[in-house]
Amino acid sequence: MATITVRLNGPYKVEGDDVKVVDWNGNEYQIAKRPFALCRCGASTNKPFCDGTHSKIGFQAAEAAVAGSEDKPAT
Ligand code: FES
Repeated sequence: MATITVRLNGPYKVEGDDVKVVDWNGNEYQIAKRPFALCRCGASTNKPFCDGTHSKIGFQAAEAAVAGSEDKPAT
């Protein structure tokens, strides 16, 4: 099982040994260590992974889980 944690004003932390990240062609990114973090701020120079730039730019995000809300599945 994988867990993705939306970090406060930071990246998506991805935990789980059974998770892979692929590009639009289905090519797999090499993941050097786990858990790993995916960029949410858009400023990483190592996308799709977080490189810590969110702290330098003062990234702030407002989203948080809302009880009872549902998201649509990705297509
Ligand atoms: S969330 Fe960390 S660099 Fe974008």
